[in-house]
Order: sequence, then structure tokens, then C-alpha cells
Amino acid sequence: FKTQYVFLIFYYSSTRKLLNDAIMSNDFLKKLEPQHMREMVDCMYEMVYVEGELIIQEGDAGNHLYVLAEGFLEVLQNGKRLGEIRPGAAFGELAILYNCKRTATVKAVVQSHIWTLDRQTFQAIMMQTTQAKHEEY
Ligand code: CMP
Repeated sequence: FKTQYVFLIFYYSSTRKLLNDAIMSNDFLKKLEPQHMREMVDCMYEMVYVEGELIIQEGDAGNHLYVLAEGFLEVLQNGKRLGEIRPGAAFGELAILYNCKRTATVKAVVQSHIWTLDRQTFQAIMMQTTQAKHEEY
């Protein structure tokens, strides 16, 4: 039992580190406040996508922000390959932060484990802290 417990703590803290590092290494998300980042990590949940599945479709309204934990993704625009996404990267931030349509399609090249945060939760986190700041004054 004890060994399992230790592994559980290890798994939990290494996932937190992965999610936090991914947010910190994203050019847009790294501008958020540390408290926002912590709360975002707290509210993320894991999804598994199978090979060939679309995570994001270009032109759609964006309702989630993602971090790739395991697997490999490709980024397409008008059917052309724009780039790739490797574990430890956050993506899907543009539509969430700037309220624009999805700028590209993101597809799982192999089965992939992806941590997700929904827009409502993201917005609630931002509002809470802003409100707390207002109450200080
Ligand atoms: P968003 O526009 O919300 O949805 C598609 C996402 O793909 C976008 O946010 C970025 O996170 C990501 N993306 C766009 N262009 C590239 C690229 N050239 N390389 C890697 N990721 C990209």
C-alpha cells in the first residue's frame, strides 16, 4: 500500500510539473499570473484521443485549452501541414485568449493523452482573481 501511495504522489506531482511547464513555455499563456496558472492546472482533466482523431478543427469556435502529455500531434491549415506538437506543449490557446475562430486543425498522429481546460472554467478563474483584487481596495 505504501509503495502505491508514493507512486501516486509522484505521478500527481510530475503531472502538475508537466502542465505548469507547458503553460510557462507558451508565449501567450506565460503572461498570466502565477495564481491563474496554479488554478488552471488544478482544473485540468485528462482525455485520450486515438490515432487520426481531430482535437481541434480549423474555423470552429474554441471551447478548450490543451496540454499534450503523451503522444504526437500535427497542425494543419487548409489541409497543409503547418507544424507538429510534442509532449509538454500547450495549444489551442489562441481561440480562448483572443475569442477568435480556431486558426488551425490539430490531429493526433498516434494515440495521445491530452489535458484539457474548458473556456468557462478558464474565464471563471480569471474573474475570481480579478474580483478578489477589487475587494482588496
Ligand atoms: P487555436 O487557434 O486556438 O487552435 C489551433 C491551435 O494550433 C492554435 O490555437 C495554436 O495553439 C496551434 N498552432 C497554430 N499554429 C501552429 C504552428 N505553426 N505550430 C504549432 N502549433 C500551432
